[in-house]
Amino acid sequence: MSRRVLVIKASPREKGNSSVLANRVMDGAGEVGATTESVSLHRLDIRPCRGCDTCRATHACVIKDDMQGLYPKLLAAEAIVLASPIYWFTFSGGMKTFIDRWYALWNIAKEPFKDKPVGIVLSYGDTDPYTSGCINAIHTFESIFRFLEAPIAGWVYGSAMEIGDVQKNPALLDSARSLGRQLGTA
Ligand SMILES: Cc1cc2nc3c(=O)[nH]c(=O)nc-3n(C[C@H](O)[C@H](O)[C@H](O)COP(=O)(O)O)c2cc1C
Repeated sequence: MSRRVLVIKASPREKGNSSVLANRVMDGAGEVGATTESVSLHRLDIRPCRGCDTCRATHACVIKDDMQGLYPKLLAAEAIVLASPIYWFTFSGGMKTFIDRWYALWNIAKEPFKDKPVGIVLSYGDTDPYTSGCINAIHTFESIFRFLEAPIAGWVYGSAMEIGDVQKNPALLDSARSLGRQLGTA
């Protein structure tokens, strides 16, 4: 059976740079026979974690919003790609709100991400990964996936400010495609 790759897009710009890179990852995964699905977070109703801790007792999240549909997708996926713009020196608030809700997932399923390969895609307007704040996103993702025992299979990040800028960087687009091929290979 083909590998299931779930791609999460956290930019409200559907034709924006991180989404273009995420689409390239999907192209690469498709080339090696993987099944891909993408989810645009900004289209969904995903409310902030309340920190109520109910999920620790009930193994379910009390917030009845679109995250309920994403929990089974996250569990079923065999590889996950997280794509985000850099906003204010780290990944976007939409991505953070989504990840905060994994607290329940961690209580719904035992070790939900253990050994599940992850790909990270980031774009930023500044010229380098340090001054842009991309480095902060990298550190945070490293901490999250170290805790969840999920291997980060690859990183794709680069400078692109306006919509369309990333198309001028063929090396970056190629690295996104390579990441997809890697994640899509069982
Ligand atoms: C609210 C907001 C905050 C931003 N903050 C940063 C930042 O801290 N560092 C940076 O290099 N670029 C910053 N940018 C620029 C975006 O990271 C850049 O345009 C990126 O490619 C957007 O990705 P997208 O096209 O996928 O939406 C910011 C843009 C917005 C709209």
